[in-house]
Amino acid sequence: MKFDPYTPQQREILMQKVQMQMSERRFKHVLGVEETAIALAEKFKVPYAKASIAALTHDYAKERSDDEFTTMITEGTYENKAELLKFGNAIWHGVVGADFVKRELKITDEEILNAIRLHTTGAAEMTTLDKIIYVADFIEPGRDFPGVTEARELALVDLNEAVAYETKHTLQFLLEQEKAIYPKTIETYNRWVAGLK
Ligand SMILES: [Fe+2]
Ligand SMILES: [Fe+2]
Repeated sequence: MKFDPYTPQQREILMQKVQMQMSERRFKHVLGVEETAIALAEKFKVPYAKASIAALTHDYAKERSDDEFTTMITEGTYENKAELLKFGNAIWHGVVGADFVKRELKITDEEILNAIRLHTTGAAEMTTLDKIIYVADFIEPGRDFPGVTEARELALVDLNEAVAYETKHTLQFLLEQEKAIYPKTIETYNRWVAGLK
């Protein structure tokens, strides 16, 4: 798809393609992320189209089978494949999901693809768009968890603080659940929470 200019009709077509890939519940989440991302994009001066397209496609591949992901990883070029293969859908649907978006929806804008890649792990280096998608995914209107109000308030004031808050929250959750932590999540923590530069 060519998105220049990004028309309401194009958004509609993209929305339909995304909707076909997922449950109603997840699609509702995606629309919530888009609404939040657009509001943040306006506030932090990111083009509307980038925020809308990245938000609409961020969970595009989330309902793909593990087999599809492992095939994509095996055949593609990814940093540290052996390690990536040890993780699962939670990590793959972002890091690898971006390549499904590229291949199937023909979205080639690297800023958008990167925002999809980083949306669950964050990264030490993040663009404003990356931060917007990472944070919008966490605070969209359908989210309900202790601390979500604080996270929403932070996002409106300071995007970096919101990234830090979310990263801390995610790490705490992973530790409590004794889940594996993807190395990039630790890099995100070191940069945005601990302030390592
Ligand atoms: Fe996701
Ligand atoms: Fe999401």
